[in-house]
Amino acid sequence: MTAQADELKRAVSFAAVDRYVRAGTCIGLGTGSTARWAIVRVGERVALGDAIVVVPTSAATERECRELGIPLAALGEREIDVAIDGADEVAADWSLTKGGGGALFREKAVALAAGTFVVVVTPEKLVARLGAFATPVEVVPFTLRIVARAIEAAHPEARVRRRGGESAPFVTDNGNAILDCSFGPIDDPLALDVSLRAIHGVVATGLFPSALTSAVLVAESGGVRALGEPHARRT
Ligand code: 5RP
Repeated sequence: MTAQADELKRAVSFAAVDRYVRAGTCIGLGTGSTARWAIVRVGERVALGDAIVVVPTSAATERECRELGIPLAALGEREIDVAIDGADEVAADWSLTKGGGGALFREKAVALAAGTFVVVVTPEKLVARLGAFATPVEVVPFTLRIVARAIEAAHPEARVRRRGGESAPFVTDNGNAILDCSFGPIDDPLALDVSLRAIHGVVATGLFPSALTSAVLVAESGGVRALGEPHARRT
């Protein structure tokens, strides 16, 4: 990653924390190289005395929060006011592909529990339709082969790849495996998510329905802009 790209990630995550995180609240913090900067900003706010409690979306985020002295809560312990997270793709309707870092299950759990879900991205993540980035599908390892076969049978256009290769499979924080599935352009992310989750052994997919997203912030060389009007969560 270039220093310029990292600076955009920093700018958009700092803007999200400054705009959406109020002292005295509990928030969700995402995973990845963009959301990492939101952790840094929350760490600064906590160091200055703001009472902010974080529900982390991964073991990596939890570790970074601990290193910065950010108080943590478990999911369900406190109301989550806002969750801030990155994305691999943001479609025109604000549906998302997430899970490039393998944290999709916890990221979706935290986004669903939050009153407001703010997505922070750099411009190359914006797409007309999802699908260029392979869809991560989290699978119980015992069922990995039959789930892969079921996906390919139901979606003949899909190419299934085991993340990490055959020899060293990727293991999620939940002890599961990931299948990266290329479906081509995805017309209806919600319907695809529902059909994939109907396969026994699939735990979650990285397809986030548009109704989950409350706001999208994009960092550009001229500054951070909000994509359209923020709206209340619709799920
Ligand atoms: C991790 C994610 C990340 O938010 C997504 O992969 C984007 O990461 P980055 O900001 O590093 O590009 O979903 O599971």
